[in-house]
Amino acid sequence: MLRTHNCGELRMDHAGQKITLCGWVQKIRDKGGMIWIDLRDRYGITQLVFDESKTDTSVIGAVRELGREYVIKAEGTVLERYAKNDKIPTGEIEIDVHEIEILNPSILPPFTIEDETDGGDELRMKYRYLDIRRNPVRKSLELRHKMLQQTRQYLDAQNFMEIETPFLIKSTPEGARDFIVPSRVNPGEFYALPQSPQTFKQLLMVSGIDRYFQIVKCFRDEDLRADRQPEFTQIDCEMSFITRDDILNTFEGLVKYLFDRVLNYQLGEVERMSYEHAMRYYGNDKPDTRFEMHFVELNHVAQGKGFNVFDRSELVVGICARGCANFSRKQIDALTDFVKKPQIGAKGLVYVKYNEDETFKSSVDKFYAQEDLKLWANEMNAAPGDLMLVLSGDAGPTRAALSELRLKMGADLNLKDKDEFKALWILDFPLLEWDGESSRYHAMHHPFTSPKPEDTGQLESNPGKVKANAYDLVINGVEIGGGSIRIHDKKLQQKMFDALGFTKEEAEKQFGFLMDAFEYGAPPHGGIAFGFDRLCALFGGSDSIRDYIAFPKNNSGRDTMIDSPSTISQEQLDELGISMKEM
Ligand code: AMO
Repeated sequence: MLRTHNCGELRMDHAGQKITLCGWVQKIRDKGGMIWIDLRDRYGITQLVFDESKTDTSVIGAVRELGREYVIKAEGTVLERYAKNDKIPTGEIEIDVHEIEILNPSILPPFTIEDETDGGDELRMKYRYLDIRRNPVRKSLELRHKMLQQTRQYLDAQNFMEIETPFLIKSTPEGARDFIVPSRVNPGEFYALPQSPQTFKQLLMVSGIDRYFQIVKCFRDEDLRADRQPEFTQIDCEMSFITRDDILNTFEGLVKYLFDRVLNYQLGEVERMSYEHAMRYYGNDKPDTRFEMHFVELNHVAQGKGFNVFDRSELVVGICARGCANFSRKQIDALTDFVKKPQIGAKGLVYVKYNEDETFKSSVDKFYAQEDLKLWANEMNAAPGDLMLVLSGDAGPTRAALSELRLKMGADLNLKDKDEFKALWILDFPLLEWDGESSRYHAMHHPFTSPKPEDTGQLESNPGKVKANAYDLVINGVEIGGGSIRIHDKKLQQKMFDALGFTKEEAEKQFGFLMDAFEYGAPPHGGIAFGFDRLCALFGGSDSIRDYIAFPKNNSGRDTMIDSPSTISQEQLDELGISMKEM
C-alpha cells in the first residue's frame, strides 16, 4: 500500500507516530512561514502542516508547486494541533510533513470540490467523476451501497435466490416504450431491453425456484421526471405457494429491516388501504399519510341552495386546514391561482373561514346562511380558527385537483415531517383501465396480474368492474413498489389477453412461451418489485433519484459526461442493416 492510513482515521492516539497519507489537495493556505494543506480522500480530511523554518527546502519547493486536486503522497509525524477543529473527526491532530511526492498533478477543476459547491447542475453532471469526490454525493452512494448489502442480507436469510435474467430480450408491451437493440447476426430483427424481468421471474417459478430475487437494471423509454430515469434499478422478487398477505408480510419485513439497519428508524404499522378509499379520501393512489386533511364530500349539505356551480357538479368536496382561518386575502388568492393552473385544472376555489368568534366568512356568503356553513363545518369536523377549502366538478378531475391542493397545504403548513416515514399498502386496484384514445382496456399493472378470485367471472361480462389482486407500497406519498398475485392458468391468461383486445395470434406471438410454460405445472405465485433508486432517495431525504445514481441521465435522457446517446458510424449502420432517413 502506498499509504499507512486514510485521511479520516488519525486521532490523538496516533500522536507521535510516523505515517503516510495519500489524497487530493482540497485547500492550501500559505502564510509565508507556515503552509497548511487540507488533504482529502473518501474517508475524510486531514490537515498537513509545513513549517518553513524546519522543513527541507526541497519539500517546501514541491508544496509551492501544488494546486487544487493534485494527488499527493505525504509522509510525516502525527502532532496534536495547537488550534483544534471540532468540526471534523481528525480536528485534534495535524501532520508535520517531512516528505511529499506528487503522484499526479491536476488542472484547475471546473467547480470547487467542497460540500457547498459553486458548480451548477449541468457542469457537475458533465464532470460527475469530480462531483462524486464531494461529500454529499459520495454519502448518497454510500447509503445506496448499504441498502444493497442489507437487502441482500435480508432476502438471502429468507431463502431467496438471486438469479440474473437476460438484458437482451423480446419487445413486449408493459406500459412504457421499449429500448430497442438491433441484432447484427439476425438482420431486420431486434432485441428489447427489459422494462422489468417480469416474465422471466414467473418462468423461474415454473422452474421450481420458489423464492427469487434480483437487484436489477430496468429500461423504460418514457418521459423523465425527478423520480424517473430511463435506466433504473429494481429489487425484483417473486414467490410461489403464497397468499397475498404472505407477500405483504414478507416485504413489509424487508422495508422495516432496511429502516432499522440503515437509518436506525423503527417503522410503525404499515396501514392497508383500498384503492377506492385512497381515491375517495385522498384523491390519489399514493397518498402521503404523514398528515390527515382527508377529503370530505359535501354534496348533501352544499347542493340545492341556489349556488349553480355546486348544483351542476357531480362532486362537491373539501378539506379542512386547521388554524388557517386567519389567512389573508392575498393567501387565499394565491391558493385560488394555484388550483386554477392548467396542470391542476380547477375552475375556482370556495373558501369558508370558521372565525374564532364562531361566525363564518366565505366566498359564497350570498348563497349560504351561517347555519348552512355550520353544517359544512360539522361534516368537516372543523373548529373555530379553521379554514375550509372546497372544489367542485366532475368527480375524477375534482379529486385530482383537491389532492394537489392538499399536498400543497401539507407542504405550506410544514405537515410533511422529513424525519417521519409513513408506509401503507394500497390494495384492490382496478384490473383494467379504459383508454379513450385507443378505445380499449389497458392493464393497470401488467397483463399477468390476476383478478380477485371473486371477480374472475366478470372478466368477460363487466371487465371495468374487476378488481386486481395487486398492491403498491407507498411511503410518504411516493410509490416505492408494486406487485401482484399472478395468473398461473393458461385459460385465465388467455381471457385476460382477450379483455385487453389482443387477438389469439398476437397473444400467442408475444406471450406464447409463458402460456406454454403454464401447461407444465405452474405453481400459484406472486411477487413485487421495489424502485430501488426511489427507496434510496426516500431514505436520504431527497426528492430526486439522480443524487443516488452514480452516473445518471439528465432530463432529456442524456449522459453529458460521455455524450450519449450519440450517432454511430455508417459502417456500423450498414453492418446492422439500418438505413437512416434524413433527420
Ligand atoms: P412497476 O412498473 O410498478 O412494476 O415498477 C416497480 C417500481 O419501480 C419503480 N419505477 C421506477 N423508478 C425509477 N425510474 C423509473 N422510470 C421507474 N419506473 C418504475 C417504482 C415502481 O413502483 N414487474 C412489475 C413488478 C411486479 O409486478 O412484480 C413492475 O415492474 O418505484
